[in-house]
Amino acid sequence: MKKVLAIPGSIRASSSNFLLLRAIAEMMAATLDVVIYDGLAGLPHFDPGVVDAPAAVAAFRGMLRAADGVIICTPEYAHGVPGSLKNAIDWTVASCEFSGKPTVLITASTDGRFGHAALLETLRVIEARDVDRLALLIPFVRSKIDAISGVVEPSTLAEVRALMEVFVRTMAAGSAPSTVE
Ligand SMILES: Cc1cc2nc3c(=O)[nH]c(=O)nc-3n(C[C@H](O)[C@H](O)[C@H](O)COP(=O)(O)O)c2cc1C
Repeated sequence: MKKVLAIPGSIRASSSNFLLLRAIAEMMAATLDVVIYDGLAGLPHFDPGVVDAPAAVAAFRGMLRAADGVIICTPEYAHGVPGSLKNAIDWTVASCEFSGKPTVLITASTDGRFGHAALLETLRVIEARDVDRLALLIPFVRSKIDAISGVVEPSTLAEVRALMEVFVRTMAAGSAPSTVE
């Protein structure tokens, strides 16, 4: 079973993005061992001058290294990537945990286009594998996920399921150049 680290870009209680990741973990439970990262709020501000990684950063990097793939599911704030998520990613740039790692980017937001494009570019430059074909924009997310039950509307769930099938095939292809369609 492939190990996946799922990173919600929102730390809000009952976040739609967290609920979507929980739904993905449940939907894929027979195929993927999905761990949802809950340490975003506890990471220190990125400092490129720090040589010895703080414990929370070392733990985050270790979880990324141990994963066969990553799912990021995030809103955008003020047409940008949420600061706490970008902060976490910045801690991995020099240590290269995303390099070659199959990475899904789901931007689930009210609109999301600007943050989605910006984060895609960041993930490309840190060499996250196949992120362009593993990207999905879900606008009007609050109308698609019930904030209390976490139930995801069927057409959104179907889109996510199709994306997960490509993700699973990408991870199965190992480190070879991907030919997954
Ligand atoms: C400060 C703030 C700024 C926001 N800016 C945007 C934005 O630029 N574009 C957008 O699509 N949604 C924006 N939203 C709305 C979020 O998409 C919406 O609250 C979403 O549900 C947040 O994700 P979550 O449910 O996982 O917390 C903003 C929300 C907040 C609180």
